[in-house]
This record gives sequence, C-alpha cells and structure tokens, in this order.
Amino acid sequence: MSIWTWATPSIASTVLANSLSSPTTVTITVDANEEKQIVDGFGFSEAFGRAENVFGSAGLSPANQQRLLDLMYDENIGAGFTILRNGIGSANLSDPSDMISIELTDPGLPSSKPTYTPNNNTGQLPLAKAAYARGLKTLYADAWSAPWFMKTNLNDNDGGYLCGVEDTDCPTGSWIQAYVNYLLEYVKLYKEAGVTVTNVGFLNEPQLNTSYASMQSNGTQAAEVIRVLGRTIREQGLDLEINCCDAVGWEDAEQMLPGLQAGPDPAINYLSVYTGHGYASPPNFTLSTHLRTWLTEWADLTGDYVPYVFFNNSGPGEGMTWANNIQVAFNAANVSAFLYWEGAENATASSSLINLINNEIVLSKRYWVFAQFSKFVRPGARRVVASSSASDVFVTSFKNSNGVIATQVLNNGTSTTTIDLEINGSWGWGNREAMMYITDNEFDFKQEPVYMGSDGLYHGTIPARSLVSFITQ
Ligand SMILES: *[C@@H]1O[C@H](CO)[C@@H](O)[C@H](O)[C@H]1NC(C)=O
Ligand SMILES: *[C@@H]1O[C@H](CO)[C@@H](O)[C@H](O)[C@H]1NC(C)=O
Ligand SMILES: *[C@@H]1O[C@H](CO)[C@@H](O)[C@H](O)[C@H]1NC(C)=O
Ligand SMILES: *[C@@H]1O[C@H](CO)[C@@H](O)[C@H](O)[C@H]1NC(C)=O
Ligand SMILES: *[C@@H]1O[C@H](CO)[C@@H](O)[C@H](O)[C@H]1NC(C)=O
Ligand SMILES: *[C@@H]1O[C@H](CO)[C@@H](O)[C@H](O)[C@H]1NC(C)=O
Ligand SMILES: *[C@@H]1O[C@H](CO)[C@@H](O)[C@H](O)[C@H]1NC(C)=O
Ligand SMILES: *[C@@H]1O[C@H](CO)[C@@H](O)[C@H](O)[C@H]1NC(C)=O
Ligand SMILES: *[C@@H]1O[C@H](CO)[C@@H](O)[C@H](O)[C@H]1NC(C)=O
Ligand SMILES: *[C@@H]1O[C@H](CO)[C@@H](O)[C@H](O)[C@H]1NC(C)=O
Repeated sequence: MSIWTWATPSIASTVLANSLSSPTTVTITVDANEEKQIVDGFGFSEAFGRAENVFGSAGLSPANQQRLLDLMYDENIGAGFTILRNGIGSANLSDPSDMISIELTDPGLPSSKPTYTPNNNTGQLPLAKAAYARGLKTLYADAWSAPWFMKTNLNDNDGGYLCGVEDTDCPTGSWIQAYVNYLLEYVKLYKEAGVTVTNVGFLNEPQLNTSYASMQSNGTQAAEVIRVLGRTIREQGLDLEINCCDAVGWEDAEQMLPGLQAGPDPAINYLSVYTGHGYASPPNFTLSTHLRTWLTEWADLTGDYVPYVFFNNSGPGEGMTWANNIQVAFNAANVSAFLYWEGAENATASSSLINLINNEIVLSKRYWVFAQFSKFVRPGARRVVASSSASDVFVTSFKNSNGVIATQVLNNGTSTTTIDLEINGSWGWGNREAMMYITDNEFDFKQEPVYMGSDGLYHGTIPARSLVSFITQ
C-alpha cells in the first residue's frame, strides 16, 4: 500500500487538538433500495497552461511527472479521477500565453474555407492521452470563446457575442455554423491524435466579460448555437454529447433554462448534460431540468494556501469545506459530477487540488477529500438515500454498479464519535468485515477495518472533524 501510507507533514494535530469529551454515538441509516441520480464522476481542468506544469515546466522530474499522473488518474495508486475538462483554445499567436486556436487566420467570411492548424492545446492533448491510459472515462472539451473574427467585438477576450445570435449585427454575417464546424474540427483533430472527446461545450461563464477569453450569451442565444451544433452532430453521425452552459453560478444556470426550453424545437432536447459553476451561487438546489447536471467548476480563488488544513475556521480552501460542498451538491442539487477548477499547478494557492513547487508534489487535504469520493464512487454508481441522527454529522451514500456501497460520513462534531451504520437493502450480508478511510487534520486516507456486530450494524469510531468513507458490500 505505497501511496496511501505516506506520512504528510501535519501542523494540525498539535495546533488544532480535539476536545476530550467522551465519544457520542450517531446512527447512520442507508437505504440502498432508494436509488437517486446516476454518478458520472469527479475531476478538474488543466486549462490555461496548467497541463504544461504537469509535464515538467514547473521543474517536475520525469519520475515525478509519472507519479503525478498516477495520483490523478490511476484508480489503484491514486484518486482515479474520471473526468477532464479541457479548454478549446481561441487565441491567436499574438496572445501566446493563452490557449491557442486551431484556426489562426481570419478566412474573411463565414462561408470561406477555414484553415485549421493542429496544436498540443497547451499540454492538454498529451495530458488527456496520459489520463485515458490510466482510466479516464470522460473528456469534456469546452470553449471559453470563439476566435476573434467570429465575434461582435473582434477579440476573443473582453466578452462580446458570437456573430449571428439574437441582437447581433456583424458586417460579415452569422458565424454560428462556422463556429460549430470549428468545434467539431477540434474533436476530429483530437480523434486523429488518438484521443476521444466525449462531451463538447461552447460557453464558459457567459454572464461575464473578462480580460481573458470570454464570450457572453443568455439562454436564448445559447439555444441558437445548440440547435445548429445538435443537428450537425446528428448529420455527421458523431458519437458526441453536448454540454451547456457553464454559468458562473447555480442561480445563473437556473436563469438560462427558460431560453433553452422555449420554442417549437427546444434546444434542451439536444443537450446531454446541463452544467454550471459554483462561484456566484453554490449548487445547493436542484435545477429545473431532468437532464443530468454537472458542477463543472468551482474552487477557492482567494489566494490562500492551506494544503494541510482539513478543518480550522471553515475557510474556503479547507478539506472540510469541500467535503461539505460535494455532499450538498449531491444531496440537494442532484449533481452527477463534481469538478474542481485546477487539478495541479505550479502555484502556492488553493485554486488547485495539488501544488507543484519545482520538483515537489504537495497533496492538499482537498485532494484527499476528492480522492475519497472519486476512488470509491465510480462512474455508473447511484446515490442512495441516507440519513444521520446527528445535526453535525452529514452523510451521502452511493451504490456502485458492482454492489460496493460507499457511505461518506462528514463529522463536524467536536468529539470522537461512534458510528452505528445500518445498511438496508444491500445485497448479501456476507461480508462482515468492511473498511473505513479517514481524512482529518492528522491523517490522509488512513485505512482501518470496520466490523459488523451481532446486531447487523457496522460499528466504527471516527475522529472529530473528519471525513470517513465506509466501504461495505
Ligand atoms: C428497509 O427496506 C425496507 C424494504 O425496502 C423498507 O420497507 C424499510 O422501510 C427500510 N428501512 C429503513 C430503515 O430504511
Ligand atoms: C436528478 O437527476 C436525474 C439524472 O441523473 C434525473 O433523472 C432526475 O429527474 C433529477 N431529479 C430531479 C428531482 O430533478
Ligand atoms: C513555478 O512557480 C514559482 C513560484 O511562482 C516560480 O518562481 C517558478 O519560476 C515557476 N516555475 C516555472 C518553471 O514556471
Ligand atoms: C506536440 O507535442 C509533441 C511532443 O512534445 C511534439 O513532438 C509535437 O511537435 C507537438 N505538436 C504541435 C503541433 O505542437
Ligand atoms: C489576434 O487576435 C486579436 C484579438 O483577439 C486581434 O485583434 C488580432 O487582429 C488578431 N491577429 C491576427 C494576426 O489574426
Ligand atoms: C467588456 O469589458 C471591456 C473592458 O472593460 C469593455 O471595453 C467592453 O466594452 C466590454 N464589452 C462588452 C460587450 O460589454
Ligand atoms: C436574450 O437576449 C436577447 C437579445 O438581447 C433578448 O432578445 C432575449 O429576450 C433574451 N432572452 C432571455 C431569455 O432573456
Ligand atoms: C444556497 O446558498 C446560498 C448562498 O450561500 C443561500 O443564500 C441560499 O439560502 C442557499 N439555498 C438553499 C436552498 O440552501
Ligand atoms: C486557523 O484560524 C485562525 C483564525 O481563525 C488563524 O489565525 C490561524 O492562522 C489558522 N491556522 C491555520 C493553520 O490555518
Ligand atoms: C462546522 O462547525 C463549525 C462550528 O464549529 C461551523 O462554523 C461550520 O459552519 C460547520 N461546518 C459545516 C460544514 O457545517
């Protein structure tokens, strides 16, 4: 058990001592017959040059590059993340620090023949290849903007609209079909390089006008693009799902829905996944759609650096904060996937799960929290109904397609707690020995056996302020 038994420097055990009160008992009840939404997986992005950090631009040795990729994508060695969100580049060579477009020159008119030039997508193409080799299931390629010549503001940065959508009037006409062709060419070039894009998107935070690649849209305008994208995918017989719209907050995602649902040919019927981010408002309610929904981006962007803190003051980068965000998103917002912003980057900040500092790989408590979900809640799992008898112990439970039940218990109590875990409806009570995995201020993914008593319940003692995964079958 190599990776999981590493000692991690911990400030916490001394600085943040648990209270000494005696253990309390909390009953967790899981009804494995009560199946809820399907799980597609967990992941992150390495857009905007971060993928190049993985391949050593931050000073990682070849051996550590391989170790990092294993920690990200190998289910046995590491967290087994199954979703990668790539940025489809929109910049030209005058903006080389950004993600570079595959269409570098303005063809003049939307009907003119475009010239496409493949590139490595700032390391994202080789990253996707390495991830698939380790078990990646889903590659979501998403554009932040169309290239400059397709837009109202003739710039891929600073917001602006795609020429051709409602309320635009560009001298060159509508670029909607040309933009769709460009997105599908990206997918084709990846395919030719041996990498399958499973999901495609064309917007990122369309509420915002930012100094980096950005393109604005409301629901009606997005719908116009979705219909053309959907029809073109059908005409070409491609096996490709459409995601939309990566709104900046969950409320914004809700507000875009009427535009997608309107009209005689509702755009929503062409979508497979409805996506949103957690910044402007968190995923804490279920969106008004029966599509699968994914939280495709969220992170602590405050600049704090708290890699070894699971719990201190409920700060935005702490492990507990993210364990709670994930649980609320699955329980209250019905999400099928949860993606942090960056996976690994050469920076001392909490905007990634893993910090790369020259040749050092720093695994944050957030990484271990995501690992406990990603490793044990695999694509195709179903969330099942679970409840806790205590107001400061939160639970989510998932039944994997192989029957293994992962019950995630977040103890925000201030004392050591005995858990009585009742699992109703699990097939076969044969395996009386189960495992639990603990992450708190002191431990990362500490493994301990759990036993079933003669009462038919599993009994485990868990620390104060901890995330504990009970893995049973
Ligand atoms: C256990 O499952 C049975 C059958 O599905 C159901 O009637 C009962 O209410 C469940 N009990 C609990 C505690 O979930
Ligand atoms: C939850 O998501 C699933 C898709 O995974 C969907 O079928 C279901 O209708 C959603 N539930 C609600 C209450 O919207
Ligand atoms: C990595 O980040 C550090 C700190 O910001 C910086 O000094 C260093 O130049 C970066 N390394 C590379 C290769 O980007
Ligand atoms: C992509 O990267 C590979 C390996 O680093 C390199 O050989 C190739 O020239 C690059 N291709 C492009 C189009 O940048
Ligand atoms: C490059 O992009 C910028 C802004 O997106 C645009 O103003 C400029 O004309 C483009 N240059 C070329 C050579 O295409
Ligand atoms: C976007 O912001 C820039 C910079 O503040 C501004 O010049 C531009 O007019 C804005 N664009 C739109 C479409 O609002
Ligand atoms: C989207 O914006 C267009 C153009 O401004 C407007 O006509 C349309 O009503 C808006 N749609 C929604 C749903 O707000
Ligand atoms: C969701 O979170 C927001 C912001 O924290 C809060 O204002 C709102 O009341 C929450 N909604 C629910 C349903 O919990
Ligand atoms: C814990 O939080 C306090 C403020 O609430 C802060 O002063 C201290 O630096 C934090 N400790 C760590 C390890 O983050
Ligand atoms: C955990 O408890 C602290 C108080 O000790 C509270 O401030 C915080 O909001 C709680 N966190 C969650 C996720 O409920």
